[in-house]
Amino acid sequence: MKIGIIGAGNIGGNLTRRLTALGHDVSVANSRGPQTLTALAEETGATPVPVEQAARGAEIVVVTIPLKRVPDLPSGVLDGAAAGVAVIDTGNYYPQRDGRIAGIEDEGRTESRWTEGHLGHPVIKAFNGTYAQDILDRPRPAGAPDRMALPVAGDDAAAKAKVRALIDELGFDTVDAGGIDDSWRQQPDTPVYGLREGVDGVTKALAEASPERPAAFRG
Ligand SMILES: NC(=O)c1ccc[n+]([C@@H]2O[C@H](COP(=O)([O-])OP(=O)(O)OC[C@H]3O[C@@H](n4cnc5c(N)ncnc54)[C@H](OP(=O)(O)O)[C@@H]3O)[C@@H](O)[C@H]2O)c1
Repeated sequence: MKIGIIGAGNIGGNLTRRLTALGHDVSVANSRGPQTLTALAEETGATPVPVEQAARGAEIVVVTIPLKRVPDLPSGVLDGAAAGVAVIDTGNYYPQRDGRIAGIEDEGRTESRWTEGHLGHPVIKAFNGTYAQDILDRPRPAGAPDRMALPVAGDDAAAKAKVRALIDELGFDTVDAGGIDDSWRQQPDTPVYGLREGVDGVTKALAEASPERPAAFRG
């Protein structure tokens, strides 16, 4: 599958490693340009591209950059993606890193709803509570007793199904965490955030979440 990855840091780099190992055709971009991604390209066989080209022809695009940088993405960054593209948002709002974002704190949007507004495209929220190193270290075959599950939220059923299938291929179970308005259940400091458990544990943690934004995550 053709996959575009916007952001080549902890998460974007490791998704590039695993998705190329699985045989996917991966294009990867950062903010400084493809000439700064030659080491990752040589290691993985991914194609480094300018950010404007990352989504070109892609059936899945992963946006994995600090939240405060989302408004800096060029307008039309998803233009040229395949019809029905699923856009994965791995983002988390850390006021200490991102500055205060009024659209999230005052206007009651979930973090991913805010991101969607900037991208001009619906997103599927996934990997946001997954340690980057776990993407490399913790894949397990389907049915393994210690296989981790990841919550996946999104409003587009077809896109969500596509993302869940990809995560299964990456070696993780998934739990349907509802729509983007429900995705506060997997934001930072919720019980499921960083949880290394299977489907039952993740389902229970999602149910136990509180909608109130914790003080440490307010700017
Ligand atoms: N680290 C984790 O374990 C983890 C786990 C789950 C979720 N997350 C979330 O996932 C997101 C990414 O985290 P990370 O730790 O992978 O970040 P990171 O290591 O800081 O990497 C960020 C990447 O985004 C790129 N970037 C920044 N602005 C960009 C722009 N305008 N256009 C294109 N690329 C841009 C950076 O490129 P340059 O270096 O060229 O600027 C860099 O490659 C964050 O929201 C984070 O909270 C992280």
